[in-house]
Amino acid sequence: MSYDRRTVLLTASLAAAAVGLGSCRSGPDGPDPDAAPATVSLDEIPVGGALILPDAPYVVSQPTAGEVKAFTNLCTHQHCPVSRIDGADIVCDCHGSRFSIDDGSVVNGPASEPLTTYPASLDGDTVTVN
Ligand code: FES
Repeated sequence: MSYDRRTVLLTASLAAAAVGLGSCRSGPDGPDPDAAPATVSLDEIPVGGALILPDAPYVVSQPTAGEVKAFTNLCTHQHCPVSRIDGADIVCDCHGSRFSIDDGSVVNGPASEPLTTYPASLDGDTVTVN
């Protein structure tokens, strides 16, 4: 089998495009250092559940009373914003992925990577993310 110059160039272009797509869909690289801090009142977050913040790119959970955790609101599958909370699951309705409110781990695919976590702290009744 022989390859002409055009075949080689096309193959190289496709390979470069695949690498580019792969990097866009790679797993979480850690918290975005440019993400702005956000605050929310603890009583807005159900115990054993979570809240998708309406005006910041985070989901804040309270797995047990007074324990707070924060995650990105972007699904790790194809980066749709997560849609809703269903019990102890953070749900992305784009393709049905579910993530745990405990640690952002995948409960149900097609996502294969956990949600990126952010620092969350509790001061009185105020939760601060990032
Ligand atoms: S983008 Fe979330 S399941 Fe596909």
